[in-house]
Amino acid sequence: MEVTIVAEPTRLSFIPGKSTGGYAYNGRVPGPTLEAYEGDKVIVHFRNNLPEATTIHWHGLHIPSTSDGSPFHPVAPGTTFDYVFTLQQGTAGTYWYHPHPHENTGQQIAKGLFGSFIVRAHDDPLKGIPEKLIVLSDNRFKEDGTIDIAEPASHQGGIDFQNGRECAHIFVNGELNPTLTIKPGEVQRWRVINASAARVYRLAIPGQTLMHVGNDGGLFERPQEVKEILVANSERVELLVRGTGTPGSVTVLQNLPYDRYSIHTRPTNWETVSDLLKIQYTADPPMKARAIPASLRVIPPLDTTLSVRTRVFVLGQGFINGKLHDMNRVDERGKLGDVEIWQVENIVGMDHPFHLHGFQFQVIDRDGVPEPFRSWKDTVNVPKHSVVRFIVRFADFAGKWMYHCHILDHEDHGMMGVFELN
Ligand code: C2O
Ligand code: CU
Repeated sequence: MEVTIVAEPTRLSFIPGKSTGGYAYNGRVPGPTLEAYEGDKVIVHFRNNLPEATTIHWHGLHIPSTSDGSPFHPVAPGTTFDYVFTLQQGTAGTYWYHPHPHENTGQQIAKGLFGSFIVRAHDDPLKGIPEKLIVLSDNRFKEDGTIDIAEPASHQGGIDFQNGRECAHIFVNGELNPTLTIKPGEVQRWRVINASAARVYRLAIPGQTLMHVGNDGGLFERPQEVKEILVANSERVELLVRGTGTPGSVTVLQNLPYDRYSIHTRPTNWETVSDLLKIQYTADPPMKARAIPASLRVIPPLDTTLSVRTRVFVLGQGFINGKLHDMNRVDERGKLGDVEIWQVENIVGMDHPFHLHGFQFQVIDRDGVPEPFRSWKDTVNVPKHSVVRFIVRFADFAGKWMYHCHILDHEDHGMMGVFELN
C-alpha cells in the first residue's frame, strides 16, 4: 500500500453553523482510513504543511522504531518524510495514527489530526460480516467556533492539567450524534477507537448484550458476551452487535458514567449518561440469524517462566518512577529477544492508561486477579490505586521506544519514559 498524507491547516464545520480553524490529514477529520493486509509493505509519503513540527505515530503497530513517528523523529514544517514498514503476520486489528511531537501531541490531536488504520487478515474468521468504524473523540469550542484550548494558568487549564482535557462535545467519526443503520437480525462488526485526550468511554446499548471479540492487537480466541465495555484512551475494541430490534425501530449507543477521576477535579456532571450514536433499524423484514464462530484464532501464550526480569513502573500524578520525561535520558534498557514482565503500579487517586510503543503485550493480572482470557494489547488502563502486570516479548526492532500515560495532557507534561532496546 502506498499513500500520500498531507497535514495542513484547514477550516471545517465541527459544530452546526460554525466554521472552525484546525488541522487535518488530507483535508478531513478524522483523516483517511488506511486499510492493508498482513504481509503488505506500507509506504506513507508524508508532507508537513503545518506551521510547526509534527510526526505521524502508528499507534500499536509493530514496526521499526525509525518509522514509529515518536518525538525522536520530528518532521519540520514544510518538509516530507516517508514512513515505510511491513505489516507482520498475526497483527490484523484496529489501529490508529496521530501526531507525537515533543510536548505537543494533545494540541495537534485536538486540532483534528487523527485517523484509523485497519490491518486485515486474509483468513479473517469474521470475513463477510458488515463492518462499522466508530472513532470517538471530544472537543471544546469558544462562542465563535474556534477550538478552545485553555490557557495553562486559567482555572480550566488547571483542571485540564489534572483530569486531562475532557470536553462536552463528543464526536463519532467527526460528527455529533450521527445515525448508524442496521438491518433487523443483522450482525455487524464494530471497530471502536478511543481517540479522546482524556475521556474514557463505558459503552452500552440499552437492553442488549454485545459480543466482545477483539482488543488493541486484534481478535480474541473466543467471543466474550458483555453488557458494557470500557474503552480507555487510545484503546480499541472490536464488537459484534446483533440487530435484535424490530423493523423501523431506533436505539442508541450510550456512554455510561465511569469514575476515573480524582475526587478534587471530578466534574460535577460526571454521572450523566450520554447518547453517542443513534442506531436506526431499516424497514427490512428480519434476516436469518448469522452463526458467530465459536473460535476466532489462536493466541500463543507468552510464558511467564520465560521472563528474564520484572520492571516496575510507579505512576504518580504526572510522573513515572518519580521522574518527568527527558528526551536526553534513557530510563530503561532492554535486550532484543528477551521476554519481560512489566508491573505498572498506580499510586494515586485517578486512572492512568499506560501505553507502550511498538509492541503488543498480554495482560497477566490486575490487582492479582488473573486476566480471564488472552488478548494482545498496547495500552492498558491502570485504575486508581491498582497494579497491572503484563508480559511482552521484544522479538525485534532495536531503538528507542516511548512508554507513557495516554491522557495527552499528562503525556505532554512529561508522564513518559524512554525504553531503549539493543
Ligand atoms: Cu498513541 Cu505514544 O501514543
Ligand atoms: Cu495519566
